Amino acid sequence: MNHTPSPDKAALEYSQKLINLIKQQIDQKNNWISFVEYMQMTLYTPKYGYYAGGSQKFGGVGDFITAPELTPLFGQTLAGQLIELLPQTAGNIYEFGAGTGLLAATVLNTLTENQFNNYYIIELSADLINRQQQTIHTLAPHLIHKVRHLSKLPTSFDGILIGNEVLDAMPVPVYQRLGSEVVEMGVSWQDDGFVWQQKTVKDLMIRQQVLETFPNTNTPYQSELHPQQYAFISTLAQKLQRGAMIWIDYGFDAAQYYHPQRQQGTIIGHHRHHVIHDVFFRPGLTDLTAHVNFTRIADAGIDNKLDLVGYTNQSTFLLNLNITQLLQQTGQPDSPSYIAAASACHTLLAPHEMGELFKVIAFGKKIDTDWLGFRHGDLCCKL
Ligand SMILES: C[S@@+](CC[C@H](N)C(=O)[O-])C[C@H]1O[C@@H](n2cnc3c(N)ncnc32)[C@H](O)[C@@H]1O
Repeated sequence: MNHTPSPDKAALEYSQKLINLIKQQIDQKNNWISFVEYMQMTLYTPKYGYYAGGSQKFGGVGDFITAPELTPLFGQTLAGQLIELLPQTAGNIYEFGAGTGLLAATVLNTLTENQFNNYYIIELSADLINRQQQTIHTLAPHLIHKVRHLSKLPTSFDGILIGNEVLDAMPVPVYQRLGSEVVEMGVSWQDDGFVWQQKTVKDLMIRQQVLETFPNTNTPYQSELHPQQYAFISTLAQKLQRGAMIWIDYGFDAAQYYHPQRQQGTIIGHHRHHVIHDVFFRPGLTDLTAHVNFTRIADAGIDNKLDLVGYTNQSTFLLNLNITQLLQQTGQPDSPSYIAAASACHTLLAPHEMGELFKVIAFGKKIDTDWLGFRHGDLCCKL
């Protein structure tokens, strides 16, 4: 049972409209849609989807807090890695899924004007594009002429691609394995709500992928595959002429992801700072996410001719880039500014908070640097 506050009437009406649209789609498809389609609709249906709608989402009054929202130290530390890489490229930064725009504003304010040429943002949500523009106008007005939103992917990239918590927001299909049986878990409408509904998997390639990936356990083993994430990284990798990609998100290598004890997969919802295990809870008002299988992300980069440069946890990456030195510059150790920054830093670094679960993976192409963020504690061998 969860104790989330009741949304207001307008929010509930929006959710109801989205429920009706999903139900219509289910009706048209013989009372069954795949989970990937359900997740796509709950997150990205124009106007009503979680990311397409106008709800707060981020920060204390929203549903979850991401690292750039927590403290500027995150973006300032990441900028240290960008400063090392940018001179070997055309000097462009491409941020994917920029949320409220705080990471962009922090990075812009950390770099000097001659350290980069353009800051491009690629964002799916029209509502968030507006918020990103406002944030950058307010916090980094002197660099606004260097910031542009791209409505489609460029033909090629020359620069550094970054994304924080973008991969986990990509819809995933869900499967169950029992022995050699493989079923896809989809969504039907029953009585007055959505329910899980199985369907036999006929596609032999998918069947084989599930059998190779999911462990053979005594009871049904349910988890996800990540075709959209793989396709996304592959597309970007093919377009990367020169530069690097850095992705930060929560997740594991494949062995940990598909551990026999992780029998229910990793899909969870976030609503008003509560973790929601019912994936059908308040559609459009609840964020739905799946953890990232970083082995698959590594495959996508390598399959498309990128160099896998590093993989480590967030804590190691930020410590390698001297986050503690930046913390010391936030004020005297007994000042309110230092105490607030130290507390946020603790959340970023502590193993039981974001330090261990969040990982950083990076790829390079035609660049040659030491990569400060991976100088100690590289975990590529686990992928
Ligand atoms: C959990 S939010 C993270 C926002 C921000 N990066 C942060 O750390 O606060 C996920 C973001 O990814 C965006 N997104 C999801 N898929 C995307 C894609 N294929 N291309 C660009 N943005 C995407 C969403 O619209 C949203 O802004």
